[in-house]
Amino acid sequence: LFSAIEMAPRDPILGITEAFNADTNPAKVNLGVGVYYDDNGKVPLLECVQRAEAHLIATVTPRTYLPIDGLVAYDKAVQELVFGADSNVIAQKRAITAQAIGGTGALKLGADFLKRFAPDSQVYISDPSWENHRALFESAGFVVNNYPYYDAVTHGVNFAGMLDSLKSMPAGSIVLLHACCHNPTGADLTADQWTQVIEVITTRGLIPFLDMAYQGFGAGIEEDGKVVRRFADAGGPLFVSNSFSKSFSLYGERVGALSIVSADAAESARVLSQLKRVIRTNYSNPPTHGGKVVATVLSTPELRALWESELAAMRVRIKANREQLVDLLKQKAPGHDFDFVKQQCGMFSYSGLTKDQVDQLRNNNSIYAIDTGRICVAALNFSNIGRVVDAICQVL
Ligand code: LMR
Repeated sequence: LFSAIEMAPRDPILGITEAFNADTNPAKVNLGVGVYYDDNGKVPLLECVQRAEAHLIATVTPRTYLPIDGLVAYDKAVQELVFGADSNVIAQKRAITAQAIGGTGALKLGADFLKRFAPDSQVYISDPSWENHRALFESAGFVVNNYPYYDAVTHGVNFAGMLDSLKSMPAGSIVLLHACCHNPTGADLTADQWTQVIEVITTRGLIPFLDMAYQGFGAGIEEDGKVVRRFADAGGPLFVSNSFSKSFSLYGERVGALSIVSADAAESARVLSQLKRVIRTNYSNPPTHGGKVVATVLSTPELRALWESELAAMRVRIKANREQLVDLLKQKAPGHDFDFVKQQCGMFSYSGLTKDQVDQLRNNNSIYAIDTGRICVAALNFSNIGRVVDAICQVL
């Protein structure tokens, strides 16, 4: 059985972390994976999370199975966060939300669900997109195509190309969109461009699937979530995956959710019943701890306010990192223009570094980035940024 099995390629993102972990250089820097590190280079344990955990320990309960679709309080709180507490789709019971194993788990649930009910559709992802999107939808059995997205010359969005592509997709195509903080480019659509995208998707009968893994890291929780609400207002069908890995710094707890908007309450009930079958045959029901922490924070006004301020601090610090990176590069590599890094949004910068340059950074300086040139700006800090800039200047 095993003798003919070939070695699989390393994962393009988590494989970089494996290589980083194996590196014995004490000055190594991991700019690969999308993880927020504080100024001391540590993954923060948010104060709101610690307080929620203290409360959970004080009120400890037995660990029975959760419902197949997750903790009721979690699903409710997440649905209100994603769509807005005053949302029509919630009032009309047109939205269902199921706890998922992180944002990736939510995408996989959505992909498996769609393969059952739209088996002949093809999937379209942005060019480029998060490395795992293609693999994930292909492993669910879909043909995955690209639509034009990033313009390397302007460092912005090739919006005309994207819109043309949307206009030529067959009805029923599944379009994967990044709700905010596009991964890997950091280039987002403007509100006006979203209006046009929503109109084309709606009138052409395409199926939008919004991936929102970085809510709160762009302009703010409300602002980043706006596009989901606009799609919901336009009517279903709509799929939304979201994650609390980054916004709660709960990476290892795998806390996310899949929401689906349909035409009416009766349709929603049928959708949920089928989604539960997808969950049951994958992992039965989700784990307890992370969901309880997030539900407690979101539904306790004092903890929620604390979370919002802690998330805002992360967002502000990432922006400051961008400024500092650009300023230092301007001083040390005056012939190169990196101003575009300040326009990008979220954790990442599509830096323009080539694969060869990324290899050199890793081999010569133990600085790890994704082969595509994506760097995680949130991993820079006052003690590593000078070294990173010097190393970049050497490979330019
Ligand atoms: C990333 O893009 O680095 C993160 O979303 C982590 C992951 O799972 O790839």
